[in-house]
Amino acid sequence: MEGKPVRESVSEYCELALPTDANGLGNVLGGKVMHLVDLAAAMAGMRHARRPIVTASVDSFHFLHPVHIGDLVLLHSSVNRVFRTSMEVGVKVMTENLMTGLLVHTCSAYLTFVALDSEGKATPVPPVIPETEDEIRRFREAGERREYRLAMRNRLRR
Ligand SMILES: CC(C)(COP(=O)(O)OP(=O)(O)OC[C@H]1O[C@@H](n2cnc3c(N)ncnc32)[C@H](O)[C@@H]1OP(=O)(O)O)[C@@H](O)C(=O)NCCC(=O)NCCS
Repeated sequence: MEGKPVRESVSEYCELALPTDANGLGNVLGGKVMHLVDLAAAMAGMRHARRPIVTASVDSFHFLHPVHIGDLVLLHSSVNRVFRTSMEVGVKVMTENLMTGLLVHTCSAYLTFVALDSEGKATPVPPVIPETEDEIRRFREAGERREYRLAMRNRLRR
């Protein structure tokens, strides 16, 4: 299968934080941001695989700052590495205060998606070709993360 450069999967998604997204403190619910992360990651994964994919796992979430209602949530995603039928997608979430223009890094996450064939079975994905220094680093680090996450999955399956 012919490889594709990471840049072909790069995706951007943004959404304004609305009052309906709020928790009891008046900030955005963590689950809302997690939903946006899943969407943004799926966009990059589908751009790469060009077929249906499902979320197999999401690595840990660490929220570095609250997101305020009225802020713009900006998500940047791309495929870090393809294994065989699965691929790791990285998402970086930034929040922009539209009154001041201040941009803060809210969280980053790594998600694994599995591509499915027409019968719903896992099917191979084209390799991804990292080109830039950052892409090469993410590709290498994705291999280390995979070992840890598959060990966690195996522990849960017991
Ligand atoms: C993800 C899923 C397709 C894996 O199916 P499976 O029968 O376990 O398939 P396999 O064991 O053959 O694994 C297929 C690939 O998924 C990877 N994988 C499976 N579980 C994983 C996990 N928890 N984390 C990371 N990768 C995982 C395997 O490493 C393998 O990747 P590779 O081919 O690149 O080496 C299946 O568990 C599933 O459908 N889960 C539900 C997905 C879903 O509905 N998500 C939305 C939840 S609401």
